[in-house]
Amino acid sequence: MSAPKYHLTSYGCQMNKLDSELVESKLRQRGYVAAAAEADADVVLINTCSVRQHAEDRVWSKLGKLRVRKRTEPQLVVGVLGCMAQEHKRYLLSRMPHVDLVVGPSAFGDIDDTVEQARSKNGQIAAEREPARTKHEVAGAGVLSVDLGVSGDRIVRDVRVRPHRSQAFVSVMRGCNMPCTYCIVPTTRGDEVSRPIADLVEETQRLCDDGVTEITLLGQTVNAYGRDLTGQDATLAKLLRALHAIPSLRRLAFITSHPNFLNQELIDALAELPKVARYLHLPAQSGSNAVLKAMRRGYTTERYLLRIDQLRAKAPDIELHSDFIVGYPGETAADFEATVAFVKQVGFAQSYVFKYSPRPGTLAAELPDDVPEPEKERRNAVLLAVQEELTLAKNQALVGQTVEVLVEGDSKVAGRFSGRTAHHRLVHFAASDRELIGQYVPVRVTEALAHSCLGELLAHDAAQEGRNDPAEASA
Ligand code: SAH
Ligand code: SF4
Ligand code: F3S
Repeated sequence: MSAPKYHLTSYGCQMNKLDSELVESKLRQRGYVAAAAEADADVVLINTCSVRQHAEDRVWSKLGKLRVRKRTEPQLVVGVLGCMAQEHKRYLLSRMPHVDLVVGPSAFGDIDDTVEQARSKNGQIAAEREPARTKHEVAGAGVLSVDLGVSGDRIVRDVRVRPHRSQAFVSVMRGCNMPCTYCIVPTTRGDEVSRPIADLVEETQRLCDDGVTEITLLGQTVNAYGRDLTGQDATLAKLLRALHAIPSLRRLAFITSHPNFLNQELIDALAELPKVARYLHLPAQSGSNAVLKAMRRGYTTERYLLRIDQLRAKAPDIELHSDFIVGYPGETAADFEATVAFVKQVGFAQSYVFKYSPRPGTLAAELPDDVPEPEKERRNAVLLAVQEELTLAKNQALVGQTVEVLVEGDSKVAGRFSGRTAHHRLVHFAASDRELIGQYVPVRVTEALAHSCLGELLAHDAAQEGRNDPAEASA
């Protein structure tokens, strides 16, 4: 009998995508192979997100299509994984009989068993494991295994299963303990659980031994890393220093930081460690103190500005990225104008702007969603335009300069590759030699666009690239 085929799609954040890699690695270890297309798969898995209604709607519509497909292919196994599985478990089990398995983000550790059971058995399966809610439970679950949120034996990541040869994510913590009123993540992911530094060094070392040169550490409040590891003196700054020592590692990024945990220790690490990426994703969410207070973000705009002044004093080359929510309940036109002014004052290099979306069960969902949709649209468009102007100006300042780009692969335009700088700027340039993918190359920026730069590849010294080749380094 031929090996069973799976197809897995991610609809969520980077953490959700990394979870998908871990799920894939479990399935492959179990003898499954990736289907060339979803239509060829015996098992269709969807890793889902609940952060906004739009994210959920895409999945509901996808599930509608799979219901139709299942009428003619009753043996097809359909699985809903991730945050919606956690959030809508009851509904999925009671109202969607064509969904065979429902697996929340804390129960991925034995996903291969769950899929096997679903294939051999008629009827739905829900993987029963609630996200960690208390420190006590966390201790019982075994801190060593939190990379997959499982109890029992430690599960070692198969570092070979990853989409990019030279880039990888490493999850340093799961969950979130912050009280942001609008956010569903603490409900779907549970409490903060950090992984010990030694584990993270070990996993990163194995990734680097397998050819990775750029690591992005993931956590919902990544700069609060370690505060649950009592007695271990683990902080993000210490973790960065430990990972920085891996010789073949060349770039080290981390997302997402919370303004309340940007302290001097982290600022010093950013200033002193040259391999650390030169941007900080530090979502402000709003530039109005009234809205920040209503959101329970725990800081004022003044405090945010003070922290970034401290950052810029020590590490002036770090660029700031942010997220903003427009149309939060009670946000007035004046509040919104304060956000616009704040974005200009800080001069963010990049911002994501989201229209507020009430999430059932959150505190904010109890409030009237009183900013009308067209006004949310307007604020969204205005803020995006303000940010685009800032980004364009920063890109224009690069024209004529030579930047170092880690080549990621084909650009949307044929005959071009794209990659990112240490500041996370996206650069497109003409090239065809596929050997360049995964290498660091010098590119001269020739033109600035609103979201990226165009440039030309400069001749570079291949021998110098070799110095960073882990195969050579260890030879
Ligand atoms: N932990 C990260 C990111 C969480 S989700 C952080 O704290 O920054 C990513 C972004 O989605 C958030 O930064 C926020 O801007 C946005 N978001 C979260 N909940 C939302 C909601 N209910 N409606 C609209 N945007 C939301
Ligand atoms: Fe959500 Fe706030 Fe936690 Fe970010 S810090 S995941 S916005 S609760
Ligand atoms: Fe979405 Fe869950 Fe990530 S809600 S943003 S997939 S943590």
